[in-house]
Amino acid sequence: MTDRKNDKNVRDAEQLVEEMAKDPRVLRMKSFTQHGKVSTYEHSLSVARMSLKLAKGLRLNVDREEMVRGALLHDYYLYDWHSRGDKLHGYHHPDIAARKADEDFSLTSKERDIIRTHMWPLTFLHVPSSKEAVIVCIADKICSSKETLEGLLS
Ligand SMILES: [Fe+2]
Ligand SMILES: [Fe+2]
Repeated sequence: MTDRKNDKNVRDAEQLVEEMAKDPRVLRMKSFTQHGKVSTYEHSLSVARMSLKLAKGLRLNVDREEMVRGALLHDYYLYDWHSRGDKLHGYHHPDIAARKADEDFSLTSKERDIIRTHMWPLTFLHVPSSKEAVIVCIADKICSSKETLEGLLS
């Protein structure tokens, strides 16, 4: 891929993040807390932006559109897991998020896989099977650790 074509892909993906951030369905995630004071909406935006940064930094040739959609919707389970009393939330929510995101956004199989495998290795049978899924899985861990730490230190 030429540098110019690649630059356009990066710009298009960054624009897609901003467009999806305004989508009323995505905005529903603002009502739910992820870690500390961070909402699931803010967390999901951070994971999408971090995924783009990692792909760029590692110079990986990925499908940025699918990666951004998978990253932004990876926690689209739409409930407050703190008050739900589900001790196995970590195991259950990727499948719930994939189902709800599929209903609302008609996912591709790669996008569904990105969502279903983002908690790996906790969900040990759901192994990321694409570069995009591996990146989102790593980006989620980086962002979650940062949010948890900031919550503890604030
Ligand atoms: Fe998650
Ligand atoms: Fe997450």
